[in-house]
Amino acid sequence: MTNQTITSVSRESRLFKPSAEFKAQANLGSEAAYKKLYAESVNSPERFWERQAKQFLTWRKPFTQVLQWKPPHAKWFGGGTLNVAENCLDRHLGTARENKAAIIFEGEPGDIRTLTYKQLHREVCKCANALELLGLRKGDRAAIYMPMVPEAAVAMLACARLGVVHTVIFGGFSSEAIKDRINDCGARVVITADGGWRRGKIVELKDSVDRALGATPSVEHVVVLKRTGNAVTMKEGRDLWWDDLMAAAPAVHKARAHASEQPLFILYTSGSTGKPKGVLHTSAGYLLGAAMTTHYVFDIKETDIYWCTADIGWITGHSYVVYGPLSVGATVLMYEGAPNQPEPDRFWEIIDRHGVTVFYTAPTAIRAFMRWGDEFVTRHSLASLRLLGSVGEPINPEAWMWYHKMIGKKRCPIVDTWWQTETGAIMVTPLPGITPTKPGSCTRPFFGVVPKILDENGKPVSRGSGGKLFLTQPWPSMLRTLWGDDARFKEQYWSEVPGLYFAGDGARFDEDGYLWVVGRIDDVLNVSGHRIGTAEVESALVSHPSVAEAAAVGRPDELKGQALVCFVTLKGDQRASDELKEALRAHVAREIGAIARPDSLRFAAALPKTRSGKIMRRILKEIAAGGDVKGDITTLEDFNVVASLQAEE
Ligand code: PRX
Repeated sequence: MTNQTITSVSRESRLFKPSAEFKAQANLGSEAAYKKLYAESVNSPERFWERQAKQFLTWRKPFTQVLQWKPPHAKWFGGGTLNVAENCLDRHLGTARENKAAIIFEGEPGDIRTLTYKQLHREVCKCANALELLGLRKGDRAAIYMPMVPEAAVAMLACARLGVVHTVIFGGFSSEAIKDRINDCGARVVITADGGWRRGKIVELKDSVDRALGATPSVEHVVVLKRTGNAVTMKEGRDLWWDDLMAAAPAVHKARAHASEQPLFILYTSGSTGKPKGVLHTSAGYLLGAAMTTHYVFDIKETDIYWCTADIGWITGHSYVVYGPLSVGATVLMYEGAPNQPEPDRFWEIIDRHGVTVFYTAPTAIRAFMRWGDEFVTRHSLASLRLLGSVGEPINPEAWMWYHKMIGKKRCPIVDTWWQTETGAIMVTPLPGITPTKPGSCTRPFFGVVPKILDENGKPVSRGSGGKLFLTQPWPSMLRTLWGDDARFKEQYWSEVPGLYFAGDGARFDEDGYLWVVGRIDDVLNVSGHRIGTAEVESALVSHPSVAEAAAVGRPDELKGQALVCFVTLKGDQRASDELKEALRAHVAREIGAIARPDSLRFAAALPKTRSGKIMRRILKEIAAGGDVKGDITTLEDFNVVASLQAEE
């Protein structure tokens, strides 16, 4: 990314301070307390994390070593044992939380269900017993491909209870993506559903699993939850109904203690090569990060009804629908479907119906609501809300202001939280009772986080200048490696500047020391808050028999943040046509999932390349954005290529 792009972010001067009222009740309400804790967290991290780990987690056996750091490998809380599911459930039993709602679920068709902590615990125990009966043991992998229903959380927690490593696959991913992920981690069991509801239609999940399973030798069983009631094919001996297994399973399950570093889950995310990366998170450190940030950033109280709109298929759903909020005993609202079903006011209706107090969503959703019109919001009171959050991509100041005025009624602090699949928990964020906010900035580091911005040569940039974002200290919820590929882990995150974690983002600090994240600087796009690797899209395109070469780039998009533009050259005997264009867009959706369907696809006679044969994406980006090709093109092999590409559309 050029400096020009980094500094083009607007200089925002508006400042919003938390109200005295909010401050007075906040879990952390004084700047002095933040400063003191932050200083301790970076100057005496081991003392700080030791205290937090004792405060936020329930241990079976106390840890003896806070951190063993052999860069880039960290081991946190060595010698300690605990059970993550017990921390999310069992420890709330026998307290006032026992009969409190853990999950309030609303399905897209309007069905509503509440599970208390006691009921959720019972379901998780039954599911753990059922999975054990299927032969799953500690360290085995299980894939979860479910709609946003409470059973998805039950399945995750049942795995956690057993020490079975789950990999949740987003319900929008295709069979190809399911197959790759299952094969990469060698999952023995797949937990899925007949379908899920989305925009009034059934998403046929079991069907997608079936198409993946022809080529997944590790899978022994498929557990199928009945959600939509559509017909599915059940393969004798392999496929089992969730309800049958649960009915037969005992409701008591004795949780075993697991080591702090017991792998908890693998979550695949896009990187700069065609193959998704299996980010590995382990138990104690991850849970501490999720729990602590839920407490301080979302300011959770016993009386809150907390709603994070992320799907459990993403890291946000892991940390802030399941592990974080349940570990602090919050009431979590879970909604299955689309924000505009039946009408674009579904979210606001849900907030009023259930009295949601804390609401966490993504900028792309906020921009969609802005576009759908204020009248859908003003129909509802939203009086219960007290705190708003944003995650997934930089929030443009205009969307921030709309969120602040229309949804927060100028009363609710907004926490713009910067973090990643790899970081496991929120890293840079305002604390809602303390930090004055600026629209578009994620403000200041959370405890223990030391961000640094460095230039191309690894040298610090001056304040106000853009550069690459690094984190300099290990933190408990950091990824431990990439599943089965430690070399890539080292290369991807720790080689840019040895010893520092490279986030892959461009950012700058402003004059007040506030952080502004601009976006990815690697070949990863952020489309509607979802990470899509351009290399993955390209490899999907070239897997089509008509395609010779492909290049995928991002173009700024008002609604999605970035839109996906693909340039394709065809094999000699193939002809460009609108039908082929559509077929190729559909092909990518089939290979990866609908979220990766190119917004625009352009046929080209040739792609711009350097003399060494490297596709010059920068040029394609400029062409995709509709602008002139600026900057240096002297390394271009064939100058005519650019002219003909520009003439095409
Ligand atoms: O580019 C940053 C952007 O999303 C990336 C991480 O994506 P993922 O691993 O899918 O996790 C998303 C949810 C945590 C980051 O590298 N990003 C995320 N949050 C923000 C953001 N960019 C700016 N501001 C944010 N608040």
